[in-house]
Order: sequence, then structure tokens, then C-alpha cells
Amino acid sequence: MKTRVNPYEVEGKIDYDRLITEFGIKKIDKKLLTRIKKITGEVHPYLKREIFFAHRDLEKLLDAYEAGQKFFLYTGCGPSGPIHLGHYSIWNFVKWLQDKFNVELWFQFTDDEKFLYKNKTYEEIQQWTHENMLDVIAIGFNPKKTHFLIDTKHAGIMYPEAIKVAKKITFSTIKAAFGFTDSNNIGSIFYTSMQTVPIFLPNILNKKSEYCLIPLAIDQDPHFRISRDVVEKLGHKKPAILHSKFMSPLTGIKGKSSSSDSSKTILMTDNAKTVKKKINKYAFSGGRDTIKEHRKKGGNVEVDVACQWLKYFEHDDEKLVDIYNKYSKGELLSGEVKTILINKINTILSEHQKQRENADKQIDKFLFKN
Ligand code: TRP
Repeated sequence: MKTRVNPYEVEGKIDYDRLITEFGIKKIDKKLLTRIKKITGEVHPYLKREIFFAHRDLEKLLDAYEAGQKFFLYTGCGPSGPIHLGHYSIWNFVKWLQDKFNVELWFQFTDDEKFLYKNKTYEEIQQWTHENMLDVIAIGFNPKKTHFLIDTKHAGIMYPEAIKVAKKITFSTIKAAFGFTDSNNIGSIFYTSMQTVPIFLPNILNKKSEYCLIPLAIDQDPHFRISRDVVEKLGHKKPAILHSKFMSPLTGIKGKSSSSDSSKTILMTDNAKTVKKKINKYAFSGGRDTIKEHRKKGGNVEVDVACQWLKYFEHDDEKLVDIYNKYSKGELLSGEVKTILINKINTILSEHQKQRENADKQIDKFLFKN
């Protein structure tokens, strides 16, 4: 089966080493991890476990940071549906970065993008923008250091910059990057310019020239490959990027978690019973056909989705290794690993949902005001 990875298509079993070569990005190596640890005091499990596995220009950004220069974080959310555990995990890592480096975070909600690309009305997308903001706030970002940009609401400050970007990108570049044809709508052709703006907008607003670090899921890289060339031509620094792998769908290790099929993922609004039901019913098992055979031969950690998902939620290395060992030896059954996962996730969700209840009244604190 062929693989395709760009913002609008993620298909097949993804070979991340091949993507590193294809995209021209760098693997995060031991040396870089040691460097990060020197600053942050600990290596986040997602770095150790290669969930965040590659980068562009992270060394340069750390050089500047160690020389006393600040940077800011920029990431975003495409509001076209509910937030799932894949988003949650990435944003939790972003919070860790924000806390450890003590930096500002610019968070873009691309309501324009989702209106242009999805078969949804403008009003539906506005609803999702609101819902998604609640989930982002529930993650616990520092409101004093976190600024929401909503593309259509902040158009007044974004559009003048977006046209400067757009003037430097040709249609043929966009066609090649995203596989567009003459039948794509013209708004979608322009869109990359809007996603480029937060790379340098904070610097324009604050009359500074800081580095920007963009944590993202690797499918977003094609936008920024284009952005990096353009912003430099406009006199801004190229952003550094940190790439994450996709959280696999519940149903198997191919493709990515997606909100459009509820059997494939767990939503931040799912209740404990739904979580239990979904995992027990859909999580692809690496176990054997019978208990007897499983006890004898053991299970396959690599394809077992419950085992793989625990990489995200069991942060204790020793505990994770112990589960993997016992599962491979047949001491733990698939159902037992699923139960461990269900409990982990339900603890996370109950806390998230509590925070989410209080999020609405905080939106105003997060929205950027010029
Ligand atoms: N296009 C992204 C999405 O569909 C949203 C987004 C905007 C984003 N800016 C970003 C994601 C920067 C990562 C980094 O989800």
C-alpha cells in the first residue's frame, strides 16, 4: 500500500525513516536529547520514546537560547470536529515546552482553512472553533503567556502579513506540495499564507526578532517547508520545527487517529463507559487466538494498539517496560493490557473534563488583543 503524508492526506503504513529523507528533516539524536535535558532538567517521555522524533533547526534555536535569546512557540488547531487523544497528547507536550522554557505560545485556530477544505458551513466551523478552544484551555496553558489567534477574527492584523507571504508563493509550488489540481477552490490555494503568518507576527507586534519553534504532527510539515523559504525572503528568521509521529487509530497501527470515525479514536468528551467500550471492542490486539497459545507464545507489542497507546499515557519507563515484557512473554493478556489503558485514559479524561467545564469563562483571557 502506498503512503501519502501531507496536511490533507495521511494514508497507509507510515515509514518515518523514509519521511525523514523525503522531507529533508533531521532525526532527534542522543546529543540533542542531552542538550535539551541540560536546560529542562528532564527528557520528556515523548522525546525519549521518539513520538517527537525529528526536527528542523532545533540546534540553531538552542544555540540562541543558550546565548540568552528567548524564542516563542507556535502551534495550531484546525477546528472541524471534536478533539481526540492524539491532539491532547501533542498539546500536553507543548505545555511541557512552555513550562520548561518559560516562553510565550501563539495558538492559531484555522477556521478559514477548515471552512475552505471541509464540507461544513461557516457556522458549523465557528461552533467547532469554540468547542476546540475549550479543550485547548483545559490543557492548562498559562493564560498570561498564551495567545489565541482565530484566522477570521484576527484577519485585521493577519491579512496584511498574509498577502506579503502570498505574493512570494506561486500556484505551481502549492500544486506540487499538496497535489492540488485546477479544480481546487482558490481559497485553499491561498491558505498556506495564513498558516505562515504566526511565524513572524509576534515579532512584528513586539518589535523583536526572536526564533519561533513549531511543534506539530508531521503532516503539517509541507506548509512550513514553503513558509521557511518565504519568511526568510521577507526578512524574518526561519522557524525551527519539532515533528511528531501520529497516534495510531484504535483499529490498527496504520494511518492516524481521526475524529471523523469515532471507532478509531477516543474523544476528550467521551465518558468512562464509552472509553471502556471503544477500547475493548476496537483496539487491535497483538494477542494470540486462544489464551493457551498466548500464555505459551506471548503477544506482539509492536502491533498491539493498547501497548502502543500506553507509550503516550504511561510516563513511567519502568512500568511501561514491565508491561511490554509481561505481554511479550504471555504473562499479561490483551484484555489485561486494555484494562490498564482504560484506567489511565479515564483518569486523564475525568481531569480534562473538569477543567473543560471552567474553560468558557477563560476564553477572553486567551484571545489575543492588540
Ligand atoms: N492546519 C492545522 C490543522 O489542520 C492547524 C495549524 C495551524 C497548525 N497552524 C499550525 C498545526 C501550526 C501545527 C502547527 O490542524
